[in-house]
Amino acid sequence: MAKKSLLDRIQSKEAKIGIIGLGYVGLPLAVEFAKGGFSVIGIDLDEEKVRGINAGRSHIEDVESKVLKSLVKNGKITATTNYDDVTNCDVLQICVPTPLTPTKEPDISFILNATEEIAKRLHSDLLILLKSTTFPETTEKVVLPILEQKGLKVGKDFYLAFSPERIDPGNKKFTMKNTPVVVGGVTKQCTELAVCLYQVICDTVIPVSSPRIAEMTKLLENIFRCVNIALVNELARLCERMGNMDIWEVIEAASTKPYGFMPFYPGPGIGGHCIMVDPYYLSWKAREYDFHTNFIELAAETNEDMPYYVVGKVMEALSHVKVPPSEAKVLVLGAAFKRDVSDTRNSPAIKIMELIEGKVSQITYNDPYVKSIQVNGHSYNSVDLTESLLKNSDCVLIATDHSSYDPQWIGRHAKVVVDTRNAIKQIDNEKVIKLGKG
Ligand SMILES: NC(=O)c1ccc[n+]([C@@H]2O[C@H](COP(=O)([O-])OP(=O)(O)OC[C@H]3O[C@@H](n4cnc5c(N)ncnc54)[C@H](O)[C@@H]3O)[C@@H](O)[C@H]2O)c1
Repeated sequence: MAKKSLLDRIQSKEAKIGIIGLGYVGLPLAVEFAKGGFSVIGIDLDEEKVRGINAGRSHIEDVESKVLKSLVKNGKITATTNYDDVTNCDVLQICVPTPLTPTKEPDISFILNATEEIAKRLHSDLLILLKSTTFPETTEKVVLPILEQKGLKVGKDFYLAFSPERIDPGNKKFTMKNTPVVVGGVTKQCTELAVCLYQVICDTVIPVSSPRIAEMTKLLENIFRCVNIALVNELARLCERMGNMDIWEVIEAASTKPYGFMPFYPGPGIGGHCIMVDPYYLSWKAREYDFHTNFIELAAETNEDMPYYVVGKVMEALSHVKVPPSEAKVLVLGAAFKRDVSDTRNSPAIKIMELIEGKVSQITYNDPYVKSIQVNGHSYNSVDLTESLLKNSDCVLIATDHSSYDPQWIGRHAKVVVDTRNAIKQIDNEKVIKLGKG
């Protein structure tokens, strides 16, 4: 019997799906495809993650261990550190990190490494999707030449597309199923195969004319957030300067406009692996075209200044309670970069701790999702949040407003609070210093 075409194998779910990188993006993706009826093999260089997954233990909040365990038990998901399994796959989805170097340039070494490993085992009839966020032209000018090194041709022997990931960790309303997916293939057939694949797990798939459009789409989405957050961060500081102004009330009022306005909120800075990082990917690429993305860089600069600004607020709070910084005990609430997740990558809370370490006598932190963190190379463990801890701290900083926190209770027992998230709503007295309220 003749071998089924790749399209048939995808449609009949006989195609074997390989997911490269089993982190915040890769593991949920592996689970969705396995739940959709495919056999999935996950490849990750981290042996501990691989062991955990094979034992049915999830390291990602959005993936329940119970669900993972049953998929592993039924043979729908297996994980490995060995790239040789690429040989058995019909589809590969690359979900490796795309961080910045210390000097804030794109670090695509993980993409290069994964692509080179695939290229060594490239076989015909393989569909490869790059999911990692990156600068426009990565798929066609970086990944494709490596894959074609040994003579196989895209669109004929194998297929390549870019499909950005839109997962929003912790979001219960928008899941992979009801969040539209954008795909852009190198050739028309590459796009068609990628569309067909995603139609299995996703209600809406949007084909675009090229990978570079799909790459730029992802950057536009994240830079849009970065720029708007910078705008409200600037306005928050202006409201404080003007006095008798509350940015939170202003945003609430502006949000009543039924069209043409979308609320964004100020905060202690931005973090995570997307909004903090992606603007730099585009700015770096733009320079190759003698183009300076001044607007985008100003937004990044404004947001990155916020942790420094919040340090000033902590010092102001300490002067309210008349405790010299060198004798002060500061309690930081929330170490994750946003509410109800455990992700601490580029977290402004940690940046603030780095900045005040050495300036204050003691820092403690609590985060129900984050057991321990590193600050300037020193380990800190999350402490229990108790009434006596609040009372004994000279300043409490609400850096991340996890929904399990009771802000009123915090406000009642703390000596002074720096509230960067407008968490404390009803106590309006001098012991709450609120970002954006003058
Ligand atoms: N986290 C998000 O919310 C999110 C959302 C949309 C897009 N993205 C993008 O998706 C990509 C992945 O992000 P993430 O948050 O899942 O990262 P992550 O760090 O959580 O996971 C990446 C995984 O890749 C593994 N890895 C690294 N190099 C590898 C290699 N050469 N081969 C195999 N495995 C390798 C790591 O061990 C890790 O488990 C990034 O480009 C990111 O910008 C992330």
